[in-house]
Amino acid sequence: MEKKIKDLRERAGDAIKNSASNLKELDEIRVKFLGKKGELTGLLRGMSQLTAEERPIIGKLVNEARAEIEQLIAEKNSELKAAELKEKLASEKIDVTLPGRRVHEGHLHPLTLTLNRVKEIFVSMGYTVEEGPEVETDYYNFEALNLPKDHPARDMQDSFYITEEILLRTQTSPVQARTMERHKNNEPIRMIAPGRVYRRDDYDASHSPMFTQVEGLVIDKGISFADLKGTLEDFSKKIFGEKTKIRLRPSFFPFTEPSAEVDVSCVMCHGEGCKVCQGTGWLEILGAGMVHPDVLKMSGYDPSKVSGFAFGMGIERIAMLSYGLDDMRLLYDNDVRFLKQF
Ligand code: DAH
Repeated sequence: MEKKIKDLRERAGDAIKNSASNLKELDEIRVKFLGKKGELTGLLRGMSQLTAEERPIIGKLVNEARAEIEQLIAEKNSELKAAELKEKLASEKIDVTLPGRRVHEGHLHPLTLTLNRVKEIFVSMGYTVEEGPEVETDYYNFEALNLPKDHPARDMQDSFYITEEILLRTQTSPVQARTMERHKNNEPIRMIAPGRVYRRDDYDASHSPMFTQVEGLVIDKGISFADLKGTLEDFSKKIFGEKTKIRLRPSFFPFTEPSAEVDVSCVMCHGEGCKVCQGTGWLEILGAGMVHPDVLKMSGYDPSKVSGFAFGMGIERIAMLSYGLDDMRLLYDNDVRFLKQF
């Protein structure tokens, strides 16, 4: 028995040291010697034939053998694991010196860039940015702006009607009424409202049935025409450059009184006269005026206590002037050769 145990120890030690070349083989060796049906268990079974004196001695030897084999297996196990990890690290090595693949970055559309610039300028003057729906009611699009049904000024804005009472908004001006209605007690307002508007129109170098406007509205005690002019002059200098001059011409809008068309000195020739300004030296950029007392009243403001000014501009036009574009359709065609340039 003693010899058998010694022999088993030697064979197990030899197998672990020399023939286990990976973790799977090591486990097979463990099962062979220490498993339930393994050799050591077999020896234990044979102990029933021993005498009472022999049993504890042999039992001790068996336990020592088990401990030694377990120890050897544990050592070999960590040795093999370390080797495996080393091999894995070597085979999965990446060469970080390879040049990276270029990521193609997109950028904002020139119309968005222009709109953002306009917003930035007004926000810096303390304006809030308001929004309104593109599918609008006849009431907000026209009536609340002093354009009752059958008013001839509606003809200038041939419209996309959905029903008699609902249409695609023809202007951002309805956001004026919507914003006033959200305020009470003649609370001051200083807002702009950017967004898309729709009119039945041609599609050519300077027309489109869909375009972008920015509306402006200021209401407070004692707001005057001088405030309107100063604000628009400041805005024009910021967007087109310090040298820019503005000019106001009398005009008509049902929701303002008095009303004006606002021109800026030509961004190309600075007033000399060129092709862009058709020799006049001036370019029209927006409509504006003092908010009509009836418009204030309809939306809950008291024209005997407060006054206001409003303006509305086309963003495509501002973009075309700032980037020197001669065809508005460039802004909608989505031709990457064009868009790439911004
Ligand atoms: N809504 C006008 C249009 O689309 C532009 C406009 C003119 C807006 C004068 C205003 C304004 O707020 O005061 O033609």
